[in-house]
Amino acid sequence: MGVASAAVAIEISGPNDGEVAWTIELPAADRLTLDTGELQDRLAAAVATVRAAGGSTCRLWIGHVEPSDDALAAEFGFTAYRDLWQLRAPLPAAPSDLAVRPFEPGDTDAVLAVNRRAFGWHPEQGAMTADDLRARQAEPWYDAAGFLLHELEGRLAGFCWTKVHPGGGPPPGDIPVGEIYVIAVDPACQGRGIGGPLTLAGLAHLHSRGPTVAMLYVESDNAAANAVYRRLGFRHHHTNRAYVAALSGRARDHTEPAGANGGPRRIERAD
Ligand SMILES: CC(C)(COP(=O)(O)OP(=O)(O)OC[C@H]1O[C@@H](n2cnc3c(N)ncnc32)[C@H](O)[C@@H]1OP(=O)(O)O)[C@@H](O)C(=O)NCCC(=O)NCCS
Repeated sequence: MGVASAAVAIEISGPNDGEVAWTIELPAADRLTLDTGELQDRLAAAVATVRAAGGSTCRLWIGHVEPSDDALAAEFGFTAYRDLWQLRAPLPAAPSDLAVRPFEPGDTDAVLAVNRRAFGWHPEQGAMTADDLRARQAEPWYDAAGFLLHELEGRLAGFCWTKVHPGGGPPPGDIPVGEIYVIAVDPACQGRGIGGPLTLAGLAHLHSRGPTVAMLYVESDNAAANAVYRRLGFRHHHTNRAYVAALSGRARDHTEPAGANGGPRRIERAD
């Protein structure tokens, strides 16, 4: 059963353990191809799928959210609770005078410790394990030369991990962009002016790989990070917004979709 047309998909995953059992996600590139009526149809189908599979707490991510999307999401019981901004800046940026070196395999523990301390408040990033790190480093885009570490008195003070997106996809991924993928300064070292030059070191690396545009994702309420990025020339490009709803389940009848053995379906990408 497709929740979407051939060209546009809504991803549904669940049921998952934890507070949020289901996630419905409309990526930014797909949101850009839909008008409000089409979005309404896709959402109705996705919500019906979750309800038919038993319902429960459901998160909805709408990429590149439009002003009218809040009202539409509310029709299905969803309330907005988190905004992730994509910021962009032109490259090259100002040069950095901060001493940095590339990641080496022996840095794993120190990077995880700084990451855990710096992102203790973050719903996903703070929980990164050694396996998660290795998995990301095994991906084709990974480049140790773009994973930059800054040390103070022989200890890791912060890191800036970058990622190059080659572009060529649908907007907003149509041009090559260099991403500040993860940046963290150990809380013991924050507020001393490391974050700015550390970001600039990452931007210099990204520009050396070709992109003339840099981007990053930041929580709308991350005041310290936004202060740093704004000063470096980053500006808001679009918002990915998260909503949550309690979707009640309903009895499935024979016309509704069912997974193997009649159980809930997990749809990685329905298109
Ligand atoms: C974001 C981060 C990398 C910045 O590093 P840093 O070394 O502390 O940055 P700096 O010292 O260069 O600058 C911090 C700026 O934030 C400002 N700031 C700090 N706390 C703030 C707050 N609560 N509200 C507003 N501004 C704040 C400081 O005033 C300073 O700006 P200024 O130089 O214009 O005065 C660091 O805070 C960090 O690791 N945070 C946790 C992880 C994170 O959020 N990473 C970014 C994810 S997108």
